Amino acid sequence: MLKFFFFNAVHLSGTKYGCGVGGCGACTVMISTYDPVTKQIQHRPANSCLFPICSLHGAAVTTVEEVGSIKPRIHTIQERLAKCNGSQCGFCTPGKVMSIYALLRNHAEPSMEKIIAALDGRFQTVNCKKYNKGINIHSGLCNTEEFPPVDPTQEFIFPPELIVGLIDFLIGAACCLAQLRDILMKAVPKLAEEKTKIYQAFLQHLRTLAGEQMRSMASLGGHIVSRASTRELNPISSVGKSVLNLASEGKLWTPCQIPLPDGQNTATENMAIGNSFQMKHYCDDFISAFRQAESQKNALSIVNSGMRILFSPGTDTIVDLSILYGGIGSTILSARKSCEKLIGRQWNDQMLNEACRLVLEEIFLPPSALGRKVEYRRTLLVSFLFRFYLEVLHGSDNIALTSPSLQYPFRCAELSQEKMSALGMLQSGIAQGVQIYQLRCVCRQPPQDPVGRPIMHQSGIKHTTGEEVYIDDIRPVDGELSLALVTNIKAHTKIMSINASEALQVPGVVDVVTARDVPGENGKDEQAYAEDKVVCVGQIICAVVAVKIVYEDLEPILTIEVTICLLFNNRFRILELEYLLDHRREDKEMDVYVSTQHATDVQEFVASALNLQYNKIMCHMKCVGGAFGGKITKPLLFAVIAAVAANKTGHAVCFALERNMDMLITGRWHPFFGKYKVGFMNDGRIRAADFQCYINGGCTKDEFESVSPSLIPLIGQCIYILNLLVRGHACKTNLPSNTAFRGFEFPQAGLFVETCIVAVATQTDLPHEKVREINMYKRVNLTSFKEKFDAENLWKCWEECLDKPDYYSKKKGIAIIPMKFSVGFNATYFHQVTSSNQSLVHIYIDGSVLVTHGGIELGQGIHTKMSHRELKIPLSYIHLCETSTTTVTSGKYTAGSTGTEINARAVQDVCQILWKHLDPIQRDNPNGKWEDWNNGRGWGISWSNSSNLRDVLTSSRGYVTNMNQDTEKGHAFPYFRFGVSCSENIGTDIVMDACFTINPAIDIGQIEGAFIQGVGLYTLEEIFFSPEGEQLTLGPDTYKIPAICDIPEQFCVYLLPNSCNSIAIYSSKGVGEARFFLGSSVFFAIQDAVAAARKERGLPMDFTPNSPLTVERICMACDDVFTEMVRLFSSLL
Ligand code: FES
Repeated sequence: MLKFFFFNAVHLSGTKYGCGVGGCGACTVMISTYDPVTKQIQHRPANSCLFPICSLHGAAVTTVEEVGSIKPRIHTIQERLAKCNGSQCGFCTPGKVMSIYALLRNHAEPSMEKIIAALDGRFQTVNCKKYNKGINIHSGLCNTEEFPPVDPTQEFIFPPELIVGLIDFLIGAACCLAQLRDILMKAVPKLAEEKTKIYQAFLQHLRTLAGEQMRSMASLGGHIVSRASTRELNPISSVGKSVLNLASEGKLWTPCQIPLPDGQNTATENMAIGNSFQMKHYCDDFISAFRQAESQKNALSIVNSGMRILFSPGTDTIVDLSILYGGIGSTILSARKSCEKLIGRQWNDQMLNEACRLVLEEIFLPPSALGRKVEYRRTLLVSFLFRFYLEVLHGSDNIALTSPSLQYPFRCAELSQEKMSALGMLQSGIAQGVQIYQLRCVCRQPPQDPVGRPIMHQSGIKHTTGEEVYIDDIRPVDGELSLALVTNIKAHTKIMSINASEALQVPGVVDVVTARDVPGENGKDEQAYAEDKVVCVGQIICAVVAVKIVYEDLEPILTIEVTICLLFNNRFRILELEYLLDHRREDKEMDVYVSTQHATDVQEFVASALNLQYNKIMCHMKCVGGAFGGKITKPLLFAVIAAVAANKTGHAVCFALERNMDMLITGRWHPFFGKYKVGFMNDGRIRAADFQCYINGGCTKDEFESVSPSLIPLIGQCIYILNLLVRGHACKTNLPSNTAFRGFEFPQAGLFVETCIVAVATQTDLPHEKVREINMYKRVNLTSFKEKFDAENLWKCWEECLDKPDYYSKKKGIAIIPMKFSVGFNATYFHQVTSSNQSLVHIYIDGSVLVTHGGIELGQGIHTKMSHRELKIPLSYIHLCETSTTTVTSGKYTAGSTGTEINARAVQDVCQILWKHLDPIQRDNPNGKWEDWNNGRGWGISWSNSSNLRDVLTSSRGYVTNMNQDTEKGHAFPYFRFGVSCSENIGTDIVMDACFTINPAIDIGQIEGAFIQGVGLYTLEEIFFSPEGEQLTLGPDTYKIPAICDIPEQFCVYLLPNSCNSIAIYSSKGVGEARFFLGSSVFFAIQDAVAAARKERGLPMDFTPNSPLTVERICMACDDVFTEMVRLFSSLL
């Protein structure tokens, strides 16, 4: 594939590798070809991870390196994206640049629709902070006021030798889907409406299926020939009687009706290759296409359909009808018998009812059908029919107006408003973002002082040019070996033997490494290599190559309560994969390069595994492509696995987890199930609550022991409950162990409590916001765990947010959610500057400064925020390099939104000490400059706050957080962060109390990013396991996270002004993970809309939707006429 060619043969590392299956867009490059028909050069984005080099004949490829780089010049796209803070960890940013670059090469002034389409295939944007920024920056590409304009004359030209003459072209089967879309989009406006129905139907799918990169690569012929049930163009091609001409050995043309007959389904079976595609024109027929997917764009359809009908002229009598469905079986299915029975019927409500019944009988889905969601898929069968019914009524009316010769006895006026609403296309508009914050750097603040200013991310430019070096980008060293993992395939087994003899005979295999090869400790709570019992699918047994393993089956436990649906069942996605590189060096030294949030722990684990002193293990970490808590515990084991292999073989060892393996092995948010009993008054006041919480910890402890007690202080949220009983239960199961992902169980606990509030509001028939208001903490108060705090800023956020969207004028589908969340951990150790986090600052004789500290750059801008005011010098003098155990001896987790404040304190300490050292020199030369003071010394100076350990330990830097759960004494957390989010159908307003933000550009990005990630958790991200404990959702095709189209159309983030936090550095507050919970406002807004739909139908209001509230759950919770019809039908089976 092209991606590997770049890295291995051409040594280009700007193009990144995120998922390997075309789902994330990190590997996007531009493919240019000459179109002999239009005589134009076409530029298209493509996923290089899926692009075979052999398909590049006659094409030119452009990578991010050619677009721009730091040395010669950066491109204006890169400059705008970087300077407008359009990247976070930056791993996916080169792909984003290439998507937009390809667009601009084709369209100098692209419409907003084209810009959004160009970014469609980019899942990774959702973990980035700048959703709306991404769009807004690109939409302003033609604006020359702030940045230089795009200058097409400066771009690479298409190689003239690749321009060849006209070749045979009808609609070539090799025509890519994006090309087909563009051809149809050009054709449609030139034709009468009734002649465009089939084109419109194709366009309906071509705008939404897959992402732009995939549409630019996937051929029409390949799409049809695959016959896969989820290939949406098959049903519509079939009802449209389109023909695919197949070329096979000996025969040039074989016209084939679609769907292709069995036995002719793949190119490999009979070497048949799609040659051309004939699309039939229709005037009198009505044709429609439908699809429903997990998310709006870039997702495989759950069910899709194509429908066509022809009436007897001047009547509503059906003379021809075709209905086909995809997503039901392994190939598309025709409702042929149903259609035949409906011939001669009139197009009316009775016919519709009969059609639904017939289709449900004919397109049968057994309860155990592959793909799950059986009831929902049945519901879609009939709801698509209903849509078609309405579209025909509505469409005929339109045609009657424009083409009086084509008369139908229908009138749109006959449709009720309610029915008309079903015809509305769910089109998201153009996302607009507003960011409001108080710039609090005062006029007396020196210009070089960066604190409080929206400074660009330190690596922003390198993110956009692809020059930021992630572990994946490190070049292999001589003799380096690759390592592959062998994982367990059953949920609960005992290893009887491991026989590596067959594996060792495979050419290239050097060794097989097992637990026996670990000289020291084989992990701590969790084994790096399984030794005896294996307790979940995916547990690592040995490394290098596949080996034969004999198992004895034991009884697995997979759910925490078999009769209960899990309230949460979500996983996160981190774009960059786990990479390790261990270099063996002399004196038993070992360099470990690992994608981690905790370099010191990696050092400790590797040293223990190899029985070496810590001083022999050098752990290096430059930057991580996304982490969110998922790179704390598991990378420790990966480090041990690689280190043991390197130790045994004497070679450097490198390994990376493929996306599916990563999703299989690494943990996720703990699935959570909660039960509550709540006592309340008629006015909504809650007087007592009994909460029982169960979390599915998986097979090992991971961070379970810290997570479980945290539930108790977190669960109170913003609500004051006088009598509160919280009981937490940790459940061990035979599933991969889970971890403390973003929010440390607060997203689960918060949703649980807010669900309880909704239930009280429903029972008392009070507006939700009234119940929240009456129960929220007021003024200075004590939490349930006796932590004193002032709720004033919580109320300010609340009132500000209520004002913003004109809350009270909206009747349904709206929710306002408050948040009170702590920072850090309930343990003083994690919050202390000196013993746990350190820094080392060098001032060289030219005055340049090198800062190193214990925090890890995860994309959250920690290095950018370390640029201090203490040395009173411009930022250009300061450089931050890697985080390493060679410079910082005992850094702690970069997690819990504490990274900046504890490490910044350490750097501040050191800088203040260094400044004092320079004092005498300054006094001698008061008119001198920074360079003079340093140059005059003749030697550089450096200071580490570890060298001042004794002094600083006695000072009161950092926080004390040491609540004793038994005595209920002490402080659980240093301070609280407040925020409120209001979501409704077109937008979201967030008001945050971020106090004096050190860098508002980065912090607002964190808030936006966390919010969207939360929307994914609460509405999209669903994990499925087989009954045997095997995870079924292992990649971007089955596991959906938000994409660019999921950004609220109007997205406003407002930072509360005039707010201070006297205990944190520069009066700031940690941001990031807390905002994640605010994504639940979308969950509750949807719940509100569902409640309104149920109310209209007179259904009970005491329903409790589970998270994630997916399209399936929304549909089933609405309990409409179609779900009712399906249930009735199912009960008769
Ligand atoms: S790596 Fe190619 S699309 Fe994700």
